[in-house]
Amino acid sequence: ASQYVKLNTGAQMPTLGFGTWQSKPGLVEKAVEVALKAGYRHIDTATAYGNEREVGEGIKNGGVPRDEIFLTTKLNNPDQRKPLEALEYSLQQLETPYLDLWLMHWPAPALADGSPDKEWNWIDTWKSMETIFKEHPDKVKAIGVSNVSVEFFEELLKVATVVPAVNQIELHPSCVQEELVQFSRSKGVAITAYSPLGSSDSPLLSNPIVGKVAEKYAVSPANVLISLQANRPDVSVLTKSVTPERVIQNFKIIDLTDDEIAELNALEKTAPFRACYPWWTGWGDLGFPDCRALGP
Ligand code: A2P
Repeated sequence: ASQYVKLNTGAQMPTLGFGTWQSKPGLVEKAVEVALKAGYRHIDTATAYGNEREVGEGIKNGGVPRDEIFLTTKLNNPDQRKPLEALEYSLQQLETPYLDLWLMHWPAPALADGSPDKEWNWIDTWKSMETIFKEHPDKVKAIGVSNVSVEFFEELLKVATVVPAVNQIELHPSCVQEELVQFSRSKGVAITAYSPLGSSDSPLLSNPIVGKVAEKYAVSPANVLISLQANRPDVSVLTKSVTPERVIQNFKIIDLTDDEIAELNALEKTAPFRACYPWWTGWGDLGFPDCRALGP
């Protein structure tokens, strides 16, 4: 696996990033500091996580110059009608003059209470993000999306004047999403994988096949699962932990053989443990548009 993923802006994004979703306040500041001291140079947060201020503190305590860090945050769903204001808020919370990457968190405009904003189209949010990107290159170095399916992406590309640099999606052996990854690559869009371990109550860490590969390389099951994503071309991966030993342990990518990759990805068929969609389909029930309804 290469150490960097090159974005369509020309920027180099470190393949291994440090994620902060579900990292409890009070713990994430220290975790970010530990991560930077362990060598991570790519930090991912979001306004929705409610921890940008702490992440900013952790970055300061990490003692790594800002220009050596690749920093991502995300536009929150209820802020889709006021992205510039939201961007200024994120910059202020993170205490940074600029973002390396600013993502639309979900293609799902919401009202202040989080319910669907049915009068607003996420494509218009993208147009606003493009304008901000063009007018404020000093504040935003790249823009992208998250949780966007092939179907939704095709809709976006019909009107986009800036091709998203990144689509950040869930990827692990129970959620391989090969079609979406290949589609993105064909359009020059890099992928960032979140939840490479399968997120909370994932059985992957104790899966015997994962364990067998881990034993062969004398690494932890988490290292195997993180490396599985990092071994995919043009894919970066976020590892997330608030446990200092794990933060340090996870900072390691190994090269897997094609057979091992195939065997691990086959778990999607042999040991699936929950539904995998680029769009959490439960959201359809909440009144958000469902990407499956669009059709290719
Ligand atoms: P914690 O933060 O308490 O250390 P995912 O990235 O798939 O969403 O999974 C993140 C979850 O996996 C977190 O709950 C984190 O727990 C846990 N985790 C992170 N690294 C490891 C590891 N090396 N071994 C076991 N669990 C881990």
